[in-house]
Amino acid sequence: MTKTETHEDLNAVIRQHSEWMAGQLHSQRESLFPPDATKSMRKFTSGEAAALLGVNDSYLRKLHLDGKGPSPELTPGNRRLYSSQDIQDLRVLLEKTARKPGDYIPGRRDGDHLQIIGVMNFKGGSGKTTTSAHLAQRLALRGYRVLAIDLDPQASLTALHGVQPEFDLEDGGTLYDAIRFDDPAPITSVIRPTYIPNLDLIPGNLELMEFEHDTPRALSNGHAGLFFFRVREALSQVDDDYDVVVIDCPPQLGFLTMSALSAATGVLVTIHPEMLDVMSMSQFLRMTADLMDVIAESGADMSHDWMRYVLTRYEPADAPQNRIVAFLRHMYGDSVLNAPMLKSTAISDAGLTKQTLYEVERSAFTRSTYDRAIESLNAVNDEIAALIQQTWGRDT
Ligand SMILES: Nc1ncnc2c1ncn2[C@@H]1O[C@H](COP(=O)(O)OP(=O)(O)O)[C@@H](O)[C@H]1O
Ligand SMILES: [Mg+2]
Repeated sequence: MTKTETHEDLNAVIRQHSEWMAGQLHSQRESLFPPDATKSMRKFTSGEAAALLGVNDSYLRKLHLDGKGPSPELTPGNRRLYSSQDIQDLRVLLEKTARKPGDYIPGRRDGDHLQIIGVMNFKGGSGKTTTSAHLAQRLALRGYRVLAIDLDPQASLTALHGVQPEFDLEDGGTLYDAIRFDDPAPITSVIRPTYIPNLDLIPGNLELMEFEHDTPRALSNGHAGLFFFRVREALSQVDDDYDVVVIDCPPQLGFLTMSALSAATGVLVTIHPEMLDVMSMSQFLRMTADLMDVIAESGADMSHDWMRYVLTRYEPADAPQNRIVAFLRHMYGDSVLNAPMLKSTAISDAGLTKQTLYEVERSAFTRSTYDRAIESLNAVNDEIAALIQQTWGRDT
């Protein structure tokens, strides 16, 4: 067997395996997820709706009895259930009679700049996608206008939002279309609404890898311009349409991540507090700093509003993890978010059915398991929301 033949054989085998896998996935999708099936957001109890709106449950009840605002669904036990659209409609209604503007709608006001949050770390499995998805959804449910961008060719954030990266994006539709060097499309052409009010998505798939290949080529023939501004420039087309952009970055420090970093006004570095992860993070930080130096040398403004570490999949009963957490907090102080994202089977199980914990019903889990996980996620996300508010000069 010659060397070339071996090479071809390997290609053929890999191609065959890929086709088998695609076929299997396709039929699985057909059975589990018929072509016209769409994801939807669950309904919220009146208590949950009140908490998302920042009012008392009794006040919501009064609005309902007075016939004001949307009509919630009534359960057989006469409990009120609100859809996420109902909650958004109520928010708009409450804002109309608010004592001061912005009491119910928390987003940007005149002069506030768009917040672009890059969620990164080159370690796969450090919780980037889980963090990005829950942050984007929580902010949208709280009334921020959010754009979530999947910049990872592996496209987990995309799948989590009911878009199949292998099947639904055959003719493009990722951010690559809007940041490519030749003939970029308007960014609006790749933005799609989700089943959650206030939340739009730019999905990703393997096509994003093209940017990693195009950039060196464009750099060598002088066509790249300031390549690291491609994401920022694309986003500037929709600057007025959103309060917050959340970018789920790929697990590597390539041109995509660099472009996200240059666009970001806030940076979240996810850390799973285990020794191997922390060691690789130190490399990640050094390489990031080196790259940012290079970008800054070409005249780019690398200033940002904030940078925070978020502890992910944290197990408070695990002694070695606690030592690492103590060490990180000692070293980095306030740069580590107070609230950690706890490890929870509720979060990983929800992920198995391509859902965030905000999407699954509380009844799907033991109450204490669900509550502990959701409280931890809310605490992380609300701490980030407070940072956003501070950036806009508001106390929280
Ligand atoms: N807090 C958590 N508790 C339990 N499992 C988690 C948690 N956060 C993430 N996971 C699981 O860990 C895996 C990796 O997380 P993910 O967010 O996809 O990481 P990354 O995007 O950095 O690769 C996923 O299977 C996810 O469901
Ligand atoms: Mg990911």
